[in-house]
This record gives sequence, C-alpha cells and structure tokens, in this order.
Amino acid sequence: MPAPAELNIRPMTQVDILAVVTIITEFSVDDGRLAQDYYEQYFRSGGHGDEQNHVATIGEVVVGVTGLYPDKYDWPGILWLNWFYVSSSYRRRGIGGSLLDFTIKTAESLGCRKLYLDTSSDSDYAAAVAKYEKSGFVREGELRDYYAKGDHYLIYGLSLSADG
Ligand SMILES: CC(C)(COP(=O)(O)OP(=O)(O)OC[C@H]1O[C@@H](n2cnc3c(N)ncnc32)[C@H](O)[C@@H]1OP(=O)(O)O)[C@@H](O)C(=O)NCCC(=O)NCCS
Repeated sequence: MPAPAELNIRPMTQVDILAVVTIITEFSVDDGRLAQDYYEQYFRSGGHGDEQNHVATIGEVVVGVTGLYPDKYDWPGILWLNWFYVSSSYRRRGIGGSLLDFTIKTAESLGCRKLYLDTSSDSDYAAAVAKYEKSGFVREGELRDYYAKGDHYLIYGLSLSADG
C-alpha cells in the first residue's frame, strides 16, 4: 500500500523522544525502557559517526521511527538499522515501507556497503521480518535460544554495492 501523501520523514529531535518511546512502549515495555535510555544518551552525546535517527510524521503527529548506527568497531562500509517502529494505529498503510526505503537510501548515500539488522524469531516480529525480506534483506545469521528457549536472535543483511 502506498504511504499517505501527507507523510513526512525528518530528523528526530529531543522533543520527539516522548512520542517515539510511547510508540515503542506500546509494543514492548522493556524495549520502551531501553529506547528511552538510548535516545537520551544519543541526544546528550550528539551521536557517533553515521549514527542518526529519523521520525515519520503526519501533520504534527509522530507515527514512526527509524535510524542507523555504525559498526561498534567502526568497521568501514557497515551500518546497522536502529529502532524501527510504526505506531500500531498507523500500520499497514505503507509507512514502515517508506521508512525502510528512506533508511536504505540514506545508508547508500553514506557509502554503506552492507546494511545489517537484528530481530527475533518470535511471531510478534513476523510483520517486520516479512517487510525486511520484501526489501531484499537476507537472513545471514541465527543465535539459537538467545532471547528464550525457541526465541532466536536473527541477523539480516542487505548488500548495497556490487562488492557487498
Ligand atoms: C514492522 C513495522 C514497522 C511495519 O510497519 P507498517 O507501517 O505496518 O509497514 P507497511 O505498511 O509498509 O507494511 C506492512 C507489511 O507487513 C505485512 N504484515 C503485517 N502483519 C503481518 C504478519 N503478521 N505476518 C506477515 N506479514 C505481515 C503486510 O502484509 C505488509 O506487507 P506489504 O509490504 O506486502 O504490504 C510495524 O509492523 C511495526 O512497528 N511492528 C512492531 C515493531 C517491530 O517489530 N519493529 C521491528 C523490530 S526488529
């Protein structure tokens, strides 16, 4: 489904933390807590390398979030997808797809050779996994029983250049 015409994607600001954390908390209270700590630290430090976060808005309402962060050892050409969420009442309208397309293009513009993401095999993440696979991400790794027995840590990768 095409995203609503009035959808806008812009850099996240400190003022957006509450709205973004509310969206994430709606999905998981634990994730909401982790996200709050992460964004507070991100805005305190000004981010690192190519680390960045964007929100999707409709009018004044923040309806989704996406982001990128570098490899923890700053390995060149590698970026990871950061928190990627759409507010539950705005899902299935193409907003997640627009955010993911935007993030992939941003990664390309930053010279990223390979974009990675991590997720879970739990059925709660089925929509996200379907979206990732539709966008060309390929499952490259699996840490079995990482989150709990039967709940595996999944790594997906997307090559963005011919030598990816
Ligand atoms: C993943 C997410 C961001 C997608 O946002 P969205 O705005 O609904 O995305 P879109 O409208 O572009 O696409 C939704 C897609 O999910 C698919 N989908 C929805 N529920 C699904 C399910 N239970 N199983 C499989 N696919 C599903 C739809 O078919 C649609 O695919 P399409 O591209 O063929 O239309 C959103 O579902 C979300 O916030 N999920 C919870 C948070 C999350 O899992 N984040 C990722 C953490 S790793």
